[in-house]
Amino acid sequence: MSTDNSRTNKPCIVVTGATGYFGGYFVEALAQDYHVLAMARNLEKLEAMQQRLGDNVTPVCCDLSDLEQARTSMRYIMREYNVVGLVNNAFPLGKATGFNTPDGALDKITTDMMLNAFSAGAVAPMVLIQEFGNALMERKATGKIVNISSMYASVSPDPVLYEGKTTFNPVSYGMTKAALEYLTKYVASFWGAKGIRCNAIAPGPFPNVEFDSENATRDNQFLDRLRAKNCNHEVGHPTQLLGALRLLLSDDAEFINGEVIRVDGGWTVR
Ligand SMILES: NC(=O)c1ccc[n+]([C@@H]2O[C@H](COP(=O)([O-])OP(=O)(O)OC[C@H]3O[C@@H](n4cnc5c(N)ncnc54)[C@H](OP(=O)(O)O)[C@@H]3O)[C@@H](O)[C@H]2O)c1
Repeated sequence: MSTDNSRTNKPCIVVTGATGYFGGYFVEALAQDYHVLAMARNLEKLEAMQQRLGDNVTPVCCDLSDLEQARTSMRYIMREYNVVGLVNNAFPLGKATGFNTPDGALDKITTDMMLNAFSAGAVAPMVLIQEFGNALMERKATGKIVNISSMYASVSPDPVLYEGKTTFNPVSYGMTKAALEYLTKYVASFWGAKGIRCNAIAPGPFPNVEFDSENATRDNQFLDRLRAKNCNHEVGHPTQLLGALRLLLSDDAEFINGEVIRVDGGWTVR
C-alpha cells in the first residue's frame, strides 16, 4: 500500500469488497470525485483495478475475516489519508458462509458458516466503523458511512425460488444483514451529533451475470424466477445502485441518518 499522501489531495473514500461485482462499479464511479482506497483480499485483482482506473485508486489488501488485520489496516488508512467516507460492501458469498453448497440449507448449516458470515459481514464493518469514527472524532472532522445490506435483512428468501435446486441463500446471510442494519441505526444514533452519518442501501436481486466469481449466476431458470417474483419483473444492475450511493456520501444527504434505502425494484413491498 502506498504511503505517499501527496498524491491524495482529494478526499478519500474506503470501499470494501472493491474487487467484486458491485465493488468494481462503486470504485469506478467514486474515483471520479474522490481518491478511493479499494479494499479486498486479492492483490492481483486490486492491482488490475488500479491499472484500469489510475492514480485515483489505492489498493488495500486485507482479509476482513481476520478482525485484527481489519483494525490495523483501517487504523493505518485513517492515519495516512484524508478519509471522509466508508462503504462497507464486502461479504464472503461462498461456501464458507453457506452459499453454493447443499450444506447451506436450514437443516444442515454449520455454526462455523454462521460465525464466518457474522464475523466478516457484521463484526468487521463494526471494527472499520470504530476506527473510522474514532479517528474523525479525534480530529473533529465529519464523515459518512454507507453499509451495503440486502433485501434479505427484512424478508426471507421464498422457498419457491429454490425448488429443484440444492443451493440456497443461507439463513446466515439475512441474519448478518439484519445485524448490519441494526448497526447502521445504532451508529446514526450515537454519532449523529458528532457529524458522522451512517446509512445503508438494501439492494434487491442483482445476480452477477457478468463476471466469473463464487457468486456468479448462469442459471437461466433461476434468473427467470427472480424476475417473475419482482414487482418490475426485472433484476438489477450495479449501476442502478450508484444514485443512492452518491447521494448518501454527499452533502445533499445532510439530514439523512440511520436510513435504509431499498433499491430492489419493489421486491420488499409484498
Ligand atoms: N449481488 C447481489 O444480488 C446482492 C444483493 C443484495 C446485497 N448484496 C450485497 O452487496 C455486496 C457486494 O456483493 P457482490 O455481488 O458484489 O459480491 P461479490 O462479487 O462476491 O464481491 C464480494 C467482495 O467482497 C470481498 N470479500 C469477500 N470476503 C472478504 C473478506 N473476508 N475480506 C475482504 N474482502 C472480502 C471480495 O473480494 P476478494 O474475494 O477478492 O477478497 C469481493 O471484492 C455484499 O455485501 C452483498 O451481500 C449483493
